[in-house]
Amino acid sequence: MYMNSFIAWIGGKKLLRKQIIEMFPDNFERYIEVFGGAGWVLFGKEQHAKFEVFNDYNSELVNLYKSMKYHPKAIEEEYSWTIQSREIFNDMLDSNISGLTEIQRASRYLFLIKSSFSASRRTFATRPNNLSIKELEKVTNRLKKVVIENKDFQNLIKVYDRNDALFYLDPPYHKTEKYYDNVFSESDHLRLKETLDGIKGKFILSYNDDEYIRNLYKGYNIIETERNNNIATQKGKEKYKELIIKNY
Ligand SMILES: C[S@@+](CC[C@H](N)C(=O)[O-])C[C@H]1O[C@@H](n2cnc3c(N)ncnc32)[C@H](O)[C@@H]1O
Repeated sequence: MYMNSFIAWIGGKKLLRKQIIEMFPDNFERYIEVFGGAGWVLFGKEQHAKFEVFNDYNSELVNLYKSMKYHPKAIEEEYSWTIQSREIFNDMLDSNISGLTEIQRASRYLFLIKSSFSASRRTFATRPNNLSIKELEKVTNRLKKVVIENKDFQNLIKVYDRNDALFYLDPPYHKTEKYYDNVFSESDHLRLKETLDGIKGKFILSYNDDEYIRNLYKGYNIIETERNNNIATQKGKEKYKELIIKNY
């Protein structure tokens, strides 16, 4: 794989990205990552296509990506002032972001991700918290030609759909939506399916193995796969079943 993401993220595709990238079709001219998160699949290759788009509905996350793309040095400098402590974490969590600059917002968000338990941005967890400018610049370099968007998936898909497009989609999983900041409801799962039914391009979609999802996407190419559960249990690592759904 080309490089790691610079953040952890709930539902991040670190463990499955190799398999997902291997399933990409041979020919496509534009690559669109619709539910970007930590972008593990995007970062998995130096370039998926000449034209690439990274999107997420979470505007603090997208502000962080844009700042990483255009101002890595400023991020590093701003970040170097933050101190790992529970009090500062809680202050940052409660702070009113409307008075902050974009760089301050980005640095705050990065701190909350890096200093929280499972990147939840909710509870503090101490861990080594250094940022190396070299690492940041690798991210900047990867994002250099990537268009960064902050749209709801339906509008994004409509804007970028072409015959030669490949969409990779990794929505909040069915029945795990509560882990994300914005609400993703039952009707959003349905809206996603209906949007995908109408596209000209190709799509590859990740989901948890779930009866409702299997039913919703029957008629498409559904591939079962499994990965180790991220959370080790007393019995050791458990397997977790996932689906990869394609329209090709
Ligand atoms: C499972 S995560 C994606 C993880 C990503 N593939 C990775 O490797 O880190 C789902 C993402 O969808 C985003 N999201 C939620 N609702 C959305 C919507 N309506 N449109 C676009 N993105 C949305 C969330 O903010 C979250 O980052």
